[in-house]
Amino acid sequence: MSPGEKLDPIPDGFILQPPVFHPVVPYVTTIFGGLHAGKMVMLQGVVPLDAHRFQVDFQCGCSLSPRPDIAFHFNPRFHTAKPHVICNALHGGRWQREARWPHLALQKGSSFLILFLFGNEEVKVSVNGQHFLHFRYRLPLSHVDTLGIFGDILVEAVGFLNINPFVEGSREYPAGHPFLLMSPRLEVPCSQALPQGLWPGQVIIVRALVLQEPKHFTLSLRDQASRAPVTLRASFTDRTLAWISPWGQKKLISAPFLFYPQRFFEVLLLCQEGGLKLALNGQGLGATSVNQQALEQLRELRLSGSVQLYCVHS
Ligand code: GAL
Repeated sequence: MSPGEKLDPIPDGFILQPPVFHPVVPYVTTIFGGLHAGKMVMLQGVVPLDAHRFQVDFQCGCSLSPRPDIAFHFNPRFHTAKPHVICNALHGGRWQREARWPHLALQKGSSFLILFLFGNEEVKVSVNGQHFLHFRYRLPLSHVDTLGIFGDILVEAVGFLNINPFVEGSREYPAGHPFLLMSPRLEVPCSQALPQGLWPGQVIIVRALVLQEPKHFTLSLRDQASRAPVTLRASFTDRTLAWISPWGQKKLISAPFLFYPQRFFEVLLLCQEGGLKLALNGQGLGATSVNQQALEQLRELRLSGSVQLYCVHS
């Protein structure tokens, strides 16, 4: 895209806020589009050895004075004999009734991955993949538009994600796959083994940033003979997203073209009987059919093109 060229309007639901790496704390940021059920915030970091406490606040605004309401205050405390977490809401400058959660899974000197999963009535929090607590909203979730991180915490990454649209209503916890910055494992072209092929229920997730002057982004699934029964390609020359058949035939996917330089995107493929469902930035975009035998015989996920990969999970 040349400077000054206009972006096509993209429906809000398709815009995904890029992750932030190593922000300096205190850190306050706008949550683009605010919070709503189905959104997740992922926090990767380390608790310093001398930590007393830190807090993650989901705020209704960002003014310094008056203090904004806080719909969800998540506050691990390490300075007492029994480290614990306090959760609360701040309304009209007043703290409400505190909820206290013992058995804190966070430890001084250790790294962690916390996932905040926002539902209709409550937020669920998992620490290192284990459910830790849930907190019923006392203020409307729709008022939250700001994330604030304060106190004794080293933040490695903050990610903003949508829940997998194909498991909505499911009670299962989404797995928090960490973001990696400049990992040699994620150098492009990137190849990851699929030792068992693909089976119904399996999910592939790719999260990445588009580079400057991009040409294409290609995801292919290959078998032992390096034949690719499934190829997904975003082409920047004609600004299309398409499935490409092993014979080079293009089947366009009807969706806004989301791939712009410096923009973050997420591709999710869910394997189902006889095909793959595709979601882009958390929005379902239909499926492509692939016969089950071909799916089982896949051995490699290959990613290439003008992107910087942050997370590849298969
Ligand atoms: C207060 C503390 C606040 C906040 C609040 C939560 O005692 O000063 O920072 O954590 O508890 O209830």
